[in-house]
Amino acid sequence: MKKVILTINGRQQEVVAAPDMVLLDLLRDDMKLTGAKQSCDRKGQCGACMVIVDGKAVRSCLAKVVSLDGSDIITVEGLGTPDNPHLIQEAFVLSGAIQCGFCTPGMIMAAKVLLDGNPDPSTDDIKKALRHNICRCTGYKKLVDAVKLAGRFLRGEITPDQVKPKPSDGMIGVSHPRPSAMAKACGTAHFTADIRVDGAAELAVVRSDIAHGVIKSIDFSQAEKMEGVLGIMTAKDIKGTNRIKLMVGDRPVLCEDRVRYIGDPIVAVAAATRKQALAAAQAVKVELEPLPVLATPGESMADGAAQIHADIPNICFTQPQIKGDAQSALSQSVAVVEADFTTQLNHQAAIEPEAGIAYFEEEEEGEEPRLVIIGRSINIHLHMSVLQEALGWENMRYMEAFSGGQFGMKIEITSEALAGAMAIHLKRPVRYIPSLDESMKMTPKRHPFSMKVKLGADADGKITAYCNDFVVDNGAYNSIGHIVVNRSFLMLSGSYNIPNVQAMARLVYTNNPFGSAARGAGPPQVNFALECAMDMLADKLGVDPFEFRLQNYLQPGQTKSTGRAVEQWPMEGLMEAMRPHYERAVREAKENQNGKVKRGVGLGTGSFGIGGPGDTAVAAVELDPDGGVSVFAAGADPGEGNDSMFTQIAAHVMNIPMDKVRLHTRDTDVTTATGPSAASRITYMVGGAMVNGLEQLKKAMEETGAKNGEELKAAGKPARYVGTKKNEDAGPLDPKTGQGPSFEAQVHAVQLAEVEVDTETGDVRIVKMTTAVDAGPVIHPQNLEGQLEGGMDMGAGYALREQFVAGQTKDWQTFKFPTFKTSFDMEVITRETPRVRGTLGAVGVGEMTLVPTAPAIVNAIKNATGAWVINLPATPEKVKQAIQSAS
Ligand code: FES
Ligand code: FES
Repeated sequence: MKKVILTINGRQQEVVAAPDMVLLDLLRDDMKLTGAKQSCDRKGQCGACMVIVDGKAVRSCLAKVVSLDGSDIITVEGLGTPDNPHLIQEAFVLSGAIQCGFCTPGMIMAAKVLLDGNPDPSTDDIKKALRHNICRCTGYKKLVDAVKLAGRFLRGEITPDQVKPKPSDGMIGVSHPRPSAMAKACGTAHFTADIRVDGAAELAVVRSDIAHGVIKSIDFSQAEKMEGVLGIMTAKDIKGTNRIKLMVGDRPVLCEDRVRYIGDPIVAVAAATRKQALAAAQAVKVELEPLPVLATPGESMADGAAQIHADIPNICFTQPQIKGDAQSALSQSVAVVEADFTTQLNHQAAIEPEAGIAYFEEEEEGEEPRLVIIGRSINIHLHMSVLQEALGWENMRYMEAFSGGQFGMKIEITSEALAGAMAIHLKRPVRYIPSLDESMKMTPKRHPFSMKVKLGADADGKITAYCNDFVVDNGAYNSIGHIVVNRSFLMLSGSYNIPNVQAMARLVYTNNPFGSAARGAGPPQVNFALECAMDMLADKLGVDPFEFRLQNYLQPGQTKSTGRAVEQWPMEGLMEAMRPHYERAVREAKENQNGKVKRGVGLGTGSFGIGGPGDTAVAAVELDPDGGVSVFAAGADPGEGNDSMFTQIAAHVMNIPMDKVRLHTRDTDVTTATGPSAASRITYMVGGAMVNGLEQLKKAMEETGAKNGEELKAAGKPARYVGTKKNEDAGPLDPKTGQGPSFEAQVHAVQLAEVEVDTETGDVRIVKMTTAVDAGPVIHPQNLEGQLEGGMDMGAGYALREQFVAGQTKDWQTFKFPTFKTSFDMEVITRETPRVRGTLGAVGVGEMTLVPTAPAIVNAIKNATGAWVINLPATPEKVKQAIQSAS
């Protein structure tokens, strides 16, 4: 141990530290300064823990406290507060650089050091200075903008007040600062791991290190005697069904007799400290007898393959889709292309680890105490009811903390089930703060698809028929596998008029990590195949891919592959908006063929459904005593900007200031259940339900002349109204034809990728991505751009680098997380066709942006090199090999 004296945020502190204590622990655990975050298991890969030490940006997870004697340390809390923010914090808020906000404090600290030494940095200077900081939400563009704006503030060229939108600018189409942005910029917004729980036991979990096996024995006799250990539990100790059942009850909270993938949880250990819990977990002896591993759907479907779940066949769901007569149409087509496409297992890669907390509230005399769960759920009411059954505890409440991104994975229950189970077991509070490696193991992934595709056209260049026989690797558990398959069918024909369709899907269990929702959930995979096939067919017909798309888009009144006719389809306007960019890109590509480096241009289109069959949302609104409005709806905001949407629309409809709109969205006690914050449905569905409630409220106010809740009640009317929105086109697809109900609205986009390919190494550099999107009237331009920019960046990772390999992908480096270095130039073009049933005409946009990205990039690689890489990701090795095969 060594005594050191440090100055932290201007206050001198004496600390006696162990040799291995790092600054991050001192700040978070001892000083209660939780602005510095941890994402990457202290490997220096995320920068979320960045602070300033003696004027330098330092990753506090790497800095030993004993080496810091005499140092002057500044954390994000020492920079400014929400009431008195630093100009850099103001710049991040006003630039729209804060989405989930988990990366924000680290980014701001790195920016401060840069700007202290270089008040007018270039884009390259910023990328270099912030190279240790990563962000999954923003695509890095707005982060660069934020640092530049901060520079202008600091140089006195402009003030925050000159940039900040005014109330008189209106509420719709204006980028008012997000409600939580300043708290995130100042490090005062609490994420789950930031919440202190008095007397909480810390949890560690023993997980399977093999993909398939029988649990022969578990011996924790040594572990339970270890220092600090408070309790150890196995499946036998769970009082409820021990099943996390979203659709199929196949996934245990703790495994009973078998493990089915690398990472399956077997034993939970609670101790006074996390270190003690981890040490005891290491001492638990689990004997596993290996079973044959079914590593691919092909192996699972083979004759005689072992069944992964005793009561469910490996091929657990099949669904065809038949529209017209595709075989006959193909036989009469003048051109037909055929190819086998595959997409990889991928991780959504939210940077916050999967933290969960459980504790009991003060109990009423004679009542079962109430178990409170705090976690990252995007569907708190459903998750609470699943947990009640799984854990066998009825009296429960779920509260959502601020969440460091999710991108679909929090449709699932992860750490919160284990924290809840242990809290019930020990009757004491529990925190489960897993490592990144463990978070990667416990979260669901994007399903890999294998797709056999045929696409035909007639002599006029019109698409005649489309066939897609696809197999979906479900992994070890179902989660929402059926929904992902159905969504793929609902959007199978993409943006096009395809009169004849023949498709078949098989959902297959394997011993891989389980799949679930992942930004787009099905459509990105099938759209990849269709959009590449469009370029193949255009090539075969000798037609420009831009014109080929333009002549095949659906027209209002024509039908999708489900047989449902569409009423609006504003693709042509988007293409015309994109035309000058496409022509410029094609011209520049011709001018930039530099020897071995070839420039190429590719297009991708997407039409993404919003408000699925039967989708229903409910939101309550209440007129407050001061004339403000409270909104009660469990519409989580893990970074997309839902809080802005609710606030600005409510302020607009009620004609009140934004600070008189009070949101209650994160607690099962006070919210309506309104479905998941997923499927890009919150603006359209929940925003629509809120507007419906506000209209009822306004009518009551007009009828009575009441100006506030008290006056309304005095006039004999309720102050609270429940609004709803429902897609009346409901029910499943026909099990034999895949025909049936569909989405109520669509968001449309066309994307243009410009890439440079090194034909010797296979390296692909994205020069620029441009997205033209029509999501109806734009409510908050920065939020819309932020979704599109972040989605393009994520889509590029999906196209070129990212792949989750069980047992090998353990951190952000092995995942190949996108960085400032891999970021690229981006442009967003918007068209605003009001949707007939949209919320003030608007629809959501969060997932759309990723849907056309991978095919646009792969089409650009083909355009540059003549080589097709149709097995994602298009790594340098695959690109190089494809170029060699094509030449
Ligand atoms: S936690 Fe320090 S760099 Fe990731
Ligand atoms: S805002 Fe950067 S990770 Fe979410």
